[in-house]
Amino acid sequence: MQQSSASDRRQSVRSGVVWDGVRGVLGGEAFRDQQALIVDVGGGTGGFAVPLAELGHTVQVIDPSPDALASLDRRARERGVADRVSGRQGDLSDLSTLVAEADLVLCHGVLEMVDDPSASLAAIAGVLRPGGHLSLLVAQRHAAVVARAMAGHFAAARELLDGDAPAGRGGRRFTHDELVALLGTAGLRPEAVHAVRVFADLVPGSLLDLEAGATAALVELERAVATRPEYLPLATQLHVLAAR
Ligand SMILES: C[S@@+](CC[C@H](N)C(=O)[O-])C[C@H]1O[C@@H](n2cnc3c(N)ncnc32)[C@H](O)[C@@H]1O
Repeated sequence: MQQSSASDRRQSVRSGVVWDGVRGVLGGEAFRDQQALIVDVGGGTGGFAVPLAELGHTVQVIDPSPDALASLDRRARERGVADRVSGRQGDLSDLSTLVAEADLVLCHGVLEMVDDPSASLAAIAGVLRPGGHLSLLVAQRHAAVVARAMAGHFAAARELLDGDAPAGRGGRRFTHDELVALLGTAGLRPEAVHAVRVFADLVPGSLLDLEAGATAALVELERAVATRPEYLPLATQLHVLAAR
């Protein structure tokens, strides 16, 4: 049996909850035995796009980085799904000119960096078919404040606290309530909110490397807390599935 690498193990802990949500949407009534048209905005090198194409769906990646798109192309060819994955250089703010329509839009780790999150969500809502879904993954503010304070960056933690300081190098951070309000303004209805990476970034990597079964147990623990509201403020990221 092939051994998974340390980076694969960490990735499975970080993205397990998000994958559960995305698979849930694709396994629902609308797509049973049917291909979905998926747009991955800021999809980068295809960490989601390529496995989704392997499930039989058609995926269009929009990303401003030519390097990321070259890696995406390589990965799609290596995995034999180049006919179902296309990459296009572009920005979320130009989505309506790049994409006609989509059943599912992934926007993972991008809203933090755009100039106008509200306009970006409206652009996504504009390309979703009626009944289509958005999978939105963003950095969560409270956990970022705690992380800065624990690293001794007290002034930076204080600046981040109320969310009105200019976005730093890592971009904006959002709270659950801010995100729900932004989605509502864009005409999108949140159906599920998940806490992502509640423990993953706190656990030393060596623990996963040394102890057999630790990765699977941590993935299970992340799953168990993902839908508990009391864990949302502790999560590094928030994942929202919203419907149009
Ligand atoms: C943090 S990475 C996330 C990659 C991928 N979505 C994932 O979850 O693994 C952010 C990606 O967004 C892209 N990006 C940055 N600004 C963007 C924008 N304004 N519109 C679309 N994509 C953007 C970057 O090139 C990068 O590939």
